[in-house]
Amino acid sequence: MASAPMLLCFEDEWTLAQALADAAGMTAACVDRHVFPDGEIKLRLPTPLPPRVVLLRSLHAPNAKLVELLLTAHTARELGAQHLTLVAPYLAYMRQDVAFQPGEAVSQKIIGRHLAQLFDAVITVDPHLHRVSTLQEAVPAAQALALTAAPLLADFVYRHCPDAVLIGPDEESAQWITSAARQHGFDHGVCRKIRHGDRQVEITLSDVPVAGRAVVLLDDIASSGHTLAQAARLLLQAGARSVDVAVTHALFSGDALEVVVKAGVGRIWSTDSVPHESNSISTAPLLAAALRSL
Ligand code: R5P
Repeated sequence: MASAPMLLCFEDEWTLAQALADAAGMTAACVDRHVFPDGEIKLRLPTPLPPRVVLLRSLHAPNAKLVELLLTAHTARELGAQHLTLVAPYLAYMRQDVAFQPGEAVSQKIIGRHLAQLFDAVITVDPHLHRVSTLQEAVPAAQALALTAAPLLADFVYRHCPDAVLIGPDEESAQWITSAARQHGFDHGVCRKIRHGDRQVEITLSDVPVAGRAVVLLDDIASSGHTLAQAARLLLQAGARSVDVAVTHALFSGDALEVVVKAGVGRIWSTDSVPHESNSISTAPLLAAALRSL
């Protein structure tokens, strides 16, 4: 009988790994990591490894993790793994998909190709694909699966705020807003956004009436928090009774949470694709179903 695949993870993602292993009927094991005084790392994988290995590594704060992936994937192959899957609930470097200025690195292509060289299959959730339409174009691995947490977010919002008006803060969020609205019949609208810098965004509200209504802002990523904060300020100025937030990836870098709260946002909900205090929705069943489908 073929041996069961093993789920590898790093200690800081043990909670999601356990939930995923339970949901997928796998055994989870940690990669042991030692950081030397000079910052280099030494990894030790469990042995023996079965022929099929799944590595869970969400790629927020990605730079050091890219080295971990390189070392883990090569070592797993040397230890006999024949099929390697990367489960990266958050996939980094997807937003820089063209060179806006001559000489700029197109990170999406470079990182995508790098991951495709290391792994046979890559699974992620709501990757930020703007000018490419499939994950396969960005990550040309034999299998590249982009899952969406939009139905999970929609169900969650419906349970906690069934009369909400769903608002997407920019045109790119239209895909999630439309699918969530279709699922539960929410009133909905999508704003327009012009980005002037990392922390400067200009937002124009949609025409959907929000005065006296409970609004939920739905987006894929909260990074600096300024997109959500600016949208929330405008919605409250327009008379919204409350503004809550639901996002797939709670990056909330630096003071982002404070920025969003100061703008008047009440409740903040996110999936556990990136560990954060706002995590309220588990991606484990979604990821487990995708693993079973491979
Ligand atoms: C980009 O368009 C994404 O959908 C998010 O709206 C964006 O990444 C959020 O970034 P920030 O929180 O830095 O405004």
